[in-house]
Amino acid sequence: MKDQLFAKKPLSLLLEEMKGENRLRRILGPVQLTSLGVGAIIGTGIFVLTGQAAHDKAGPALILSFVVSGIACIFAAMCYAEFASMVPVAGSAYTYAFATMGELFAWIIGWDLVLEYTVVSATVAHGWSHYFQDFIGIFGLHVPNAVTRAPFDYDPSLGRIVSTGTTLDLPAIVITLILTVILVKGIHESASFNTAMVAIKLGVVLFVIAAGIFYINPANWTPFAPFGYTGISFFGKTVSGMTDAGGQPLGMLAGAGIIFFAYIGFDSVSTHAEEARNPQKDVPIGIVTSLILCTILYIAVSAVLTGMVPYNKINIDAPVSDAFRQAGLPWAQLLISAGALAGITSVLLVMMLSQPRVLLAIARDGLLPQSFFGAVHEKFRTPWKSTILTGVVVAILGAFLPLRILAELTNIGTLLAFVIVCLSVLIMRFTNPGAHRPFKAPGGIVVPILGTACCLLLMFSLPAENWLRLFIWLLLGFVIYFGYGRLHSAMRSRMEGGARLEP
Ligand code: ALA
Repeated sequence: MKDQLFAKKPLSLLLEEMKGENRLRRILGPVQLTSLGVGAIIGTGIFVLTGQAAHDKAGPALILSFVVSGIACIFAAMCYAEFASMVPVAGSAYTYAFATMGELFAWIIGWDLVLEYTVVSATVAHGWSHYFQDFIGIFGLHVPNAVTRAPFDYDPSLGRIVSTGTTLDLPAIVITLILTVILVKGIHESASFNTAMVAIKLGVVLFVIAAGIFYINPANWTPFAPFGYTGISFFGKTVSGMTDAGGQPLGMLAGAGIIFFAYIGFDSVSTHAEEARNPQKDVPIGIVTSLILCTILYIAVSAVLTGMVPYNKINIDAPVSDAFRQAGLPWAQLLISAGALAGITSVLLVMMLSQPRVLLAIARDGLLPQSFFGAVHEKFRTPWKSTILTGVVVAILGAFLPLRILAELTNIGTLLAFVIVCLSVLIMRFTNPGAHRPFKAPGGIVVPILGTACCLLLMFSLPAENWLRLFIWLLLGFVIYFGYGRLHSAMRSRMEGGARLEP
């Protein structure tokens, strides 16, 4: 059994499996790959969560929160890029883990990615709902109050969960279901559609920076860190920094733990390896460049936002467009709301597209039921059953759970995935020192170690309940693996058939 848990999928087998599917044309160069990364990154994080992070957690020190979170992501991105260049097949961290660390680790990371993509989608759907309501509000239209948001939320000033007086978030359900139908019918993720979306998003972000700079009042940056510069708790016990009324960490690092969400998505560049002209070189370039670009833009946007509006008056639903309303520029509010809506929609589409494909990859290895998760629609050629399941789960989560709880859960799951990727790169440096690495994170083992440390630090800056939720999720994963996956694994059948596998 131990042999099966740690048996790796040979690279030759991965390449063989890819031959069976329709080959995609190798047309993407470094610019298009970077653009795909930016398309998946800029969304609810910068347009919505900046408000909560500045208002509740960090104040103007949010600018530094973006720096810290960006640095953690850059270390993780370099490890991701090293992995992607070593295992140049289309796929996610799940596939890389299978090739390098074996079935059990692959399952853990795959199960963790399920958490990431589903909960990220629900969070992004919420963000969409906020901007949709902001947008129609400009024309005097409103969604009935009972269906504007989740029925409960965490109130940091009281330190407990409170009722919001509503029932559910209807716009979040509607957008999720519309996109589910589109995804079942199949979209050809065309690079030109993505380029248009990226252009709109970048245009809006650059507009916010260029126009907002004239409305900055430097007095708004004082005090710069009203909640301090730290905010770390160790399983509920505050180690450093202030806490809110409910004992949750506050401060610049606590803000970084939240807005980490804004950087999620750069890893999706690796899923385009099959379409890249020169994957071993261009995929790492796409991952790292898109992330660095977004880091710079995010730091500038947060400086403008906290300079335009006193941190305690920043709107937490649609902070960026509302800052321009408060500055007396309703036309700018309209422009930003419309651009944010388009940008957030494209992120939601990418995330909801990725989830069924991760499930499909796992099902093909026999770790989830192939008949359901591996089913491809006869006419549309899409993994329709798991797409519908994803849509329904995302709609339910988006309808009933509040944004901040969803975002925190996404972050802890994704940070764990990054920790595993950084640690695997570190381990591989010792176990496979001679492997061909067209891209190697510089500085010896420094980058994987710093990546692991920074991501762990951010995990400890999140409210403690998230650890509990993560453990429950992983426990459920182990039950499924040992109750189903291990027994139905394709790897197991191959081993029983006497196939030679890499140790
Ligand atoms: N980074 C993506 C967003 O902010 C998930 O919407």
